[in-house]
Amino acid sequence: MKFFHDTLNKNEAPIAVFDSGVGGISVLRALLEEMPDENYLYYGDSANAPYGTKNLEEVRRLTVSHVDRFIEEGAKAVVVACNTATSAAVRYLRQKYPFVPIIGIEPALKPAVLSGKHPNVIVMATPMTIREEKFHNLMDRYIGMAHIIPLPCPGLMEYIENGDIQSAELEQFLERLFEPFEKQKLDAVVLGCTHYPFVSRELQKVLGKNVMLFEGGPGTARETKRRLAEANLLKDCQTKGTVRFENSVPSKEKQRLCERLLGQDK
Ligand code: DGL
Repeated sequence: MKFFHDTLNKNEAPIAVFDSGVGGISVLRALLEEMPDENYLYYGDSANAPYGTKNLEEVRRLTVSHVDRFIEEGAKAVVVACNTATSAAVRYLRQKYPFVPIIGIEPALKPAVLSGKHPNVIVMATPMTIREEKFHNLMDRYIGMAHIIPLPCPGLMEYIENGDIQSAELEQFLERLFEPFEKQKLDAVVLGCTHYPFVSRELQKVLGKNVMLFEGGPGTARETKRRLAEANLLKDCQTKGTVRFENSVPSKEKQRLCERLLGQDK
């Protein structure tokens, strides 16, 4: 496969956006809002999903092999639109490719903590994100300012991968997940996995309207724009940008799901 070698102007080359599956489309959505003229290649590794219940070495190996290919084929920047892959591999990737902007994502804990006076904040994420040092460092920064509860959510991303973003079964799954917090007043929930924004509506139904939800996509999109501007890599001519989907499950259903999720209202 070859996508960008014939691109004469580097600024026209695509930004590669990568996730373990279809979740990173929530970040792609934010990138398109921030930079609609850019060209994007979205790659989902659904054949190897979920990443969040694998071990660190395996997620690092998978992530690095995909990013190697994007860079080899000429991507001008890489957005690792997966919290799990970011915590496993982004530091290593930046050392390996010091001249390519590589942007990762982390749970949007800061705005959640700042949303109230010592709020009760739940961070939903994959088991691996919650286990890793990167998350512990992030939590340490805000520990005195809020009551922060990490909530690993194994099994949730599978609903979104299967195209289920609204169903009685999903609602029951979320109810069970939040059952232990029934007696607590929750103020904010951080969606620390890029799949979860797609079930915001169901979550809001289960949690009630007063609980605020925070996602990392918009911050990551702003950071990507900053980094591209710094490197003089923003696309300069204002022709409409393109989005291309690729997935390690090369089925028509996956392709359709990607398109559906990209068009999904928040
Ligand atoms: N979308 C990925 C994230 O943001 C996780 C899903 C998975 O377990 O593969 O962490």
